[in-house]
Amino acid sequence: MKLNPFLISGYVSPEYFCDREHETARVLDVIANQRHLTVISPRRMGKTGLIRHSFHNLKGSKKVRTVYIDILATTTLKEFTEAFGKAVLSVISGNESVVKKVLRQLSALRPKFSIDPLTGEPAITFQAKGGDQAEESLNTIFVYMAGMPFQYAIAIDEFQQIADYPEKKTEALLRSYLQTTPNISFIFSGSRRHVLAEIFSLPARPFFNSTEMMEIGIIDPAAYKSFIAERFASGSKSVTDAALDYIEELTGMHTFYVQYLCNRLYGSLKKAGTNEVKQLLSVILAENEPVYANYLTLLTPTQFRILKAIALNNGVSEPTSSEFISEYQLGSPSTVSQALKSLTEKQFVYHDGKKHKLTDVFFAWWMVYK
Ligand SMILES: Nc1ncnc2c1ncn2[C@@H]1O[C@H](COP(=O)(O)OP(=O)(O)OP(=O)(O)O)[C@@H](O)[C@H]1O
Ligand SMILES: [Mg+2]
Repeated sequence: MKLNPFLISGYVSPEYFCDREHETARVLDVIANQRHLTVISPRRMGKTGLIRHSFHNLKGSKKVRTVYIDILATTTLKEFTEAFGKAVLSVISGNESVVKKVLRQLSALRPKFSIDPLTGEPAITFQAKGGDQAEESLNTIFVYMAGMPFQYAIAIDEFQQIADYPEKKTEALLRSYLQTTPNISFIFSGSRRHVLAEIFSLPARPFFNSTEMMEIGIIDPAAYKSFIAERFASGSKSVTDAALDYIEELTGMHTFYVQYLCNRLYGSLKKAGTNEVKQLLSVILAENEPVYANYLTLLTPTQFRILKAIALNNGVSEPTSSEFISEYQLGSPSTVSQALKSLTEKQFVYHDGKKHKLTDVFFAWWMVYK
């Protein structure tokens, strides 16, 4: 089946994936040398894609097995253990006798067979009982992995979630496996920068200094534009250079927003120019109006004014400067700092190293035109 070449979710293969060569090489180097890494980026910049792409490179490797788990939907150590057990088992489930052996070892987890509603494939789910039992089960899984004759790369996506588990010992528990299982390399990732920074860089926390950090930003614009032009050409379609420049101007090359615009342009046109991009943007803003109207209900009047001011300026480097505050009537510097902190925690805003920007690029344009 031929897919639209601009994916807006998931990972398929290198053909659909642009660049990230240095980042991929770094992830692979960390894994090859049994180190650990934490990948941080603003929402929708491409963390999950990078991990999937790196793991794709290890497909068929005799040495390294990869395990990917997204823990966004987990709220307790028990749920974490279930998700983790399921992911590990699906990696080794090619071999029936191994599965039986593991199931025996994992009996504390009460395995249950079912059909995965998404894939239609048979799956094994685990139901860990109480807290202690989850800990014991987790230990069984790690002891099993430690005894295997290959290396594991375990990616735990949306890792900041563990900071919200009621079991405060989760961090210490996981950290102990980092130290005691040399054949496992962990890749953690997430977008809540502040929460992750606290987990990994506060001396009082168990994970202090235990992983390398990697921040990912936008893909090199020139590389991304030639990728887009090539993908259009491969479907006997075209996009003008001016349209590509305009996409860069609109999105700042924020990955998801580039992908989304290109997906829709490619899906509906043979040739995309600047006018078509303009029209598409206004269609998208109209479609998303209910979502944006709902965003507004979540904001205080000061937060709203700050967001709008950031949107109008396409990012702001000194939001507490007197010029900025007086131009947009934002009150005092401390009011601005407080509001910005809250907007950052809610992930409406992020800092790209130079400027505070709106996470949702289309919402920013909606604010500008409003
Ligand atoms: N290098 C790439 N080339 C092409 N598309 C990409 C690339 N990286 C990511 N994407 C696409 O961009 C979108 C966002 O990427 P991804 O989901 O990896 O971001 P994320 O940082 O994990 O986001 P979130 O914070 O929401 O989890 C996805 O649709 C993905 O398919
Ligand atoms: Mg992700």
